[in-house]
Amino acid sequence: MAFVTTREMFAKSLQGDYAVGAFNVNNMEIIQGIVDAAKIENAPLILQVSAGARKYAKPIYLLKLVEAAIEDSGLDICLHLDHGEDFDICKKCVDDGFTSVMFDGSKYPLAENIARTKEVVEYAHSKSVVVEAELGRLAGIEDSIKVDGRSASFTDPEEAAEFVAKTGVDSLAVAIGTSHGAYKFKGEPFLDFERLEQIRALLPGTPLVLHGASTVLPEFVARCNEYGGNIPGAKGVPEEMIRTACKHGVCKVNIDTDLRLAMTAEIRRYFIENPAEFDPRKYLGPARDAIRDMVQHKIKNVLGASNQR
Ligand code: G3H
Ligand code: 13P
Ligand code: ZN
Repeated sequence: MAFVTTREMFAKSLQGDYAVGAFNVNNMEIIQGIVDAAKIENAPLILQVSAGARKYAKPIYLLKLVEAAIEDSGLDICLHLDHGEDFDICKKCVDDGFTSVMFDGSKYPLAENIARTKEVVEYAHSKSVVVEAELGRLAGIEDSIKVDGRSASFTDPEEAAEFVAKTGVDSLAVAIGTSHGAYKFKGEPFLDFERLEQIRALLPGTPLVLHGASTVLPEFVARCNEYGGNIPGAKGVPEEMIRTACKHGVCKVNIDTDLRLAMTAEIRRYFIENPAEFDPRKYLGPARDAIRDMVQHKIKNVLGASNQR
């Protein structure tokens, strides 16, 4: 049991038709719920921390919680920085003991994205840490960076090949139609699988990453709304589409929004049904179980990663 990089998990995933789940963590209950599910399903696991999560919980708390999770569960876990926006945050996480960092230079022109990514790769690799980068832009909100839907541009396969060759990056996040958050599509959901295949054909040995991969399961949105929420018109990526992506070279699937919805639905339900209770353990316990159930469902039915540890 240890902090591990994604090298072995991705090498194995490239040979199969499943993907490794990368779940965002912000506190103890979320970490425990996810780790419980990975243990039950005997699945490889990536826990990822955003800049917002570091700000919310303080880096040392998240690091120590994941360390505790590894020791308690006996699992190997990859600890990954999600959407690092500059060299400094990537360096901090490498120095802190993260085993994987994402440098997100997708907002820069190609040459600048390459130069900045390369700088992170050189530093991370010198400390045996792996790097994910992003090319092409997702619609939606990435931390403080607001990307307008109309200016979102899908990943160009030729540029992807050039980018990987020039940066030496370990995995590549691609834009094929997904976006962050709970409002991914106004009309019919669409992912550009043809483009994904073209990228894979040019980069057969490079693990591809799918951000914005939550499904925004209608029953969880409905439960939030039933118990006082107001989340109208939310729509995610249908689970069959994620399944298809896993069979076409996607090795890492990022999920945050579905965990948020599962947790919030449960806490809302608890508050409405138990107005006299005020012990946080009473609602955070069921919320942790809801996270576990959601992650188990993802691993088993969407990512196909059960027993792939
Ligand atoms: O890609 C974004 C993730 O869902 C993290 O969200 O920046 O609000 O922590 P956050
Ligand atoms: P969702 O908002 O679809 O869960 O995506 C999360 C993500 O991509 C984190 O990097
Ligand atoms: Zn993301």
